[in-house]
Amino acid sequence: DKNGFEHFMLKEIFEQPGVIKNIISNYADNKLFNSNNSFSKEELQNIDKIYIVACGTALHAGQSGKFAIEKFTKIPVLTDIASEFRYNNSFIDEKTLLIVISQSGETADTLGALEKGIKAKAKTLSITNVEDSTIAKTTDKSLYCNAGPEVSIASTKAYTAQVALIYLLSLDMAKKLKTIDDEDLSSILIELKKLPEKIEEILQNVDTIKNIANELKECQSMFYIGRGPDLITAKEGSLKLKETSYIHSEPFAAGELKHGTMALMDSSSKVIAVATQSNLSKKTATNVLELREKGVSVYSVGVEGDVLLEKNSNYTVFIPETLDVLSPILTVIPEQLIAYYTSLAKGIDVDHPRNLTKSVISE
Ligand code: M6R
Repeated sequence: DKNGFEHFMLKEIFEQPGVIKNIISNYADNKLFNSNNSFSKEELQNIDKIYIVACGTALHAGQSGKFAIEKFTKIPVLTDIASEFRYNNSFIDEKTLLIVISQSGETADTLGALEKGIKAKAKTLSITNVEDSTIAKTTDKSLYCNAGPEVSIASTKAYTAQVALIYLLSLDMAKKLKTIDDEDLSSILIELKKLPEKIEEILQNVDTIKNIANELKECQSMFYIGRGPDLITAKEGSLKLKETSYIHSEPFAAGELKHGTMALMDSSSKVIAVATQSNLSKKTATNVLELREKGVSVYSVGVEGDVLLEKNSNYTVFIPETLDVLSPILTVIPEQLIAYYTSLAKGIDVDHPRNLTKSVISE
């Protein structure tokens, strides 16, 4: 049931404030973590590194969450594509925590990666949206997104739910390891609780997003750029646009442009720049200006009040201010909507992109 929405993808995008609110209030009420889904202090003290392994959008959720885990727990986090990890030389032993993320909980490569981790005696934790899925049943601990069924092939609400769960998992771990003080913890919680209404605010202002979609619909190829957590959102936005709109799109670290890709840029090029991090957004805004000087059309996603970014870009979509580490959960919303409206403008069946299936159960 599309609940009055034209497509499942749009319905699922609009469900995100409710999904995130539910996850955060469960945490605040001490109902999120228990011994089935989180490790004890003693177990955590024995972990010296974390691997996060997944495919596609679920991997991007892990890569966004890596920043929070490292910041709050001080444990180094490596991330890898499941189909690579399962055949790579990786450094897994009984002191490794392997976190696997999968909406469906059935993805073949993610399951293969998990089996490799179990063989090497790693501790394992899964984040899935299907409670009795194979992956959820195979890990030592399993966290459940509770986002409701995701029908659209392009994943949206599962992604933000996965990111929210990693934020909270990192806080739970940091609390047990005493790597965070009470004051910081409560100020982060205050900011987390504000996220659902901030997502709502983005969802209510789609005019600029529709203008961008309209400019993208004719293009064959485009680029996404960002730095730090914004690079991960750029990867996710780029994947979403590819799968829903069939536009070739490449995500790049903004600082890498000058090392080769800049040679492609001319007045027919289009770039989406994500620039929300307080220590990095000025640098990306400078890259935007350099692109504009070559005639490139640049659409940006930035934090409310960023006049420099706005001045340098053709269009800017603003997200409300939040903590740098929490911004990926907001930044992805305009990206999801850009993908949706571009697909719509091209007349593509957005819920069923060609050649893709919801759950990839073969390698
Ligand atoms: O069910 P999973 O989360 O394991 O699926 C992983 C990917 O196949 C999935 O996220 C895919 O990239 C989506 N279609 C992206 O929107």
